[in-house]
Amino acid sequence: MMRIDDIKNICVVGAGNMGHQISLHCAIMGFNTFCTDVSKKVLAKADAFVDKYLSGRVEKGKLTTQQAAAARSRIRFMPSMEDAAKDADYIIEAVLEVLDLKRKIFADLDRIAPPHAILATNSSAIVSSKIADATGRPDKVINLHFFNPALVMKLVEVVQGPHVSEETVQVSMELCERLKKISVHVKKEVKGFLLNRILLSMFKEAFWLLDMDVASIEDIDKACVYGAGHPMGPFTLNDLTGIDLQYIMDLETFRETGNVADLPSPSLVERYVKGCYGKKTGRGWYDYSDK
Ligand code: 3HC
Repeated sequence: MMRIDDIKNICVVGAGNMGHQISLHCAIMGFNTFCTDVSKKVLAKADAFVDKYLSGRVEKGKLTTQQAAAARSRIRFMPSMEDAAKDADYIIEAVLEVLDLKRKIFADLDRIAPPHAILATNSSAIVSSKIADATGRPDKVINLHFFNPALVMKLVEVVQGPHVSEETVQVSMELCERLKKISVHVKKEVKGFLLNRILLSMFKEAFWLLDMDVASIEDIDKACVYGAGHPMGPFTLNDLTGIDLQYIMDLETFRETGNVADLPSPSLVERYVKGCYGKKTGRGWYDYSDK
């Protein structure tokens, strides 16, 4: 039986938007963290971010020099998934939302990782039951869903598909506690889990108001910030989470429902086809090119 104390080494697959912050958070919280990505450029960017972030925390007085140095020594970025996963006790995959890619990665992880290791996906869009049968350990394959920016947002959704064992859920929730996150147990696999269902309906409304020229992007954001106390408006938030991800999730919903109202909104498509995915590309609903 696996226990939380058995988790010493965490492997994160994918060093992009979510993966590098999840990795760094795990390292700060005391775990040996091995982050891997197919792109050397992405790995180098993530590595540089770690130095910048940790020195910023020291300057702000949020970490001591020793704590920052200890976190730095616990995190490694490496191109070989084989090396990153071979001694892992818990693996968190955070790659693109492409089912076949995830299934291939999970099949490989199943071969590489020790038999006791739990294989989690940070997917926002794909439930673990669509991936679990690519492995020989479906009871240990689970959705562990972090929120962006993962170093800051407290919530993690632990989603229990029908194939997931109670032990895997228990250890995953305890891991969140060790990471000083607030976990919620999602007892059934539903599309969008808990929070994204709520956020997506807000995004849809915001896009509709824009498409109908009811108000500008800035004013819709202002309404949510100053009228509802949201930390950021839906367009600013969508730029943070990614227009590409939104587009993929909307198309997926449309494929399932066949309802034209679920198609990506025209203004979203306009930005998607231009490669304006949000903050990460320097342009999305807003322009960040000078930042
Ligand atoms: N990475 C790391 N840390 C960050 C950060 C980032 N990108 N942005 C802000 N921070 C940190 C700052 O360092 C600061 O830390 P400190 O207080 O310990 O010094 C703290 O967050 C506050 O930052 P700021 O004062 O600069 O800015 P704000 O007060 O405006 O906070 C925010 C920024 C935390 C991003 C806040 O605007 C917020 O909570 N926004 C909503 C985010 C949200 O809803 N996320 C969920 C998205 S949905 C999702 O991720 C699901 C997925 O499936 C798509």
